[in-house]
Amino acid sequence: MDRMLRPVHRWVWGDFDRRVRKLIAFAEVEGDGGRDILRAAEVTPDPLLRRLYLAHAIDELHHADLFRQRSAALLQTRPARVKTIFSATPLPGGHGLDDLQIDGEPDDRLLAFLHVAEKAAAGRFAIYREVVDDDPSTRAVFDEILRDEVFHMNYTYTQLARISPRTYRRQVWRARASRLWKRYLRVAAAIAGVFGTAVLTIQYFILLPPFALLAKRAERREPPGWTPVSPEREHPLESQY
Ligand SMILES: [Fe+2]
Ligand SMILES: [Fe+2]
Repeated sequence: MDRMLRPVHRWVWGDFDRRVRKLIAFAEVEGDGGRDILRAAEVTPDPLLRRLYLAHAIDELHHADLFRQRSAALLQTRPARVKTIFSATPLPGGHGLDDLQIDGEPDDRLLAFLHVAEKAAAGRFAIYREVVDDDPSTRAVFDEILRDEVFHMNYTYTQLARISPRTYRRQVWRARASRLWKRYLRVAAAIAGVFGTAVLTIQYFILLPPFALLAKRAERREPPGWTPVSPEREHPLESQY
């Protein structure tokens, strides 16, 4: 899928502002992911996993620093005025660690989730590395991070197979299905937002004008100023109705 979207990735990364924005967004996702994995290291009962989670969290926090430094360095070289018509990025970010939940998650589910997320990240960062070929420093950042992501992808799979030797394949499929489902929900929510805006705009321009016209006509028929109350409605004031 991402390979097919390569021209879109190239377009996204081709613009200076979008590139900086992407790098800043990656820094946030990597940092959040690193802190979550740090929490996983605290709560896991497995000593080997604790060591690996700790190393993993340090890597992710380091990635956050690399992305932040690179975006700051790019911002310093920013031309005075950059004209961009569309500066948002239509594709999701690199890592997908933003959906990570630690507390109450057993290690096997967490490892399956991490494996799928790291695999996706490795695939994405490999593409990003190619599309920023005009910018060797950003490319070097992706090169370095990609090596770590491949290690994360592999250790999570090996450890999942160690702690759940019978069910690890099923767990990975489940994690993949859940990721796809979340992605579908995000796309569906975005499409629903676009449709909602379109329908409300159409309603505003098609349904409201007749009512506005009727209100104007009714207003013209109303006598101006105070009007006397008819005798049958003239009761003494006993209640507010
Ligand atoms: Fe990372
Ligand atoms: Fe990672």
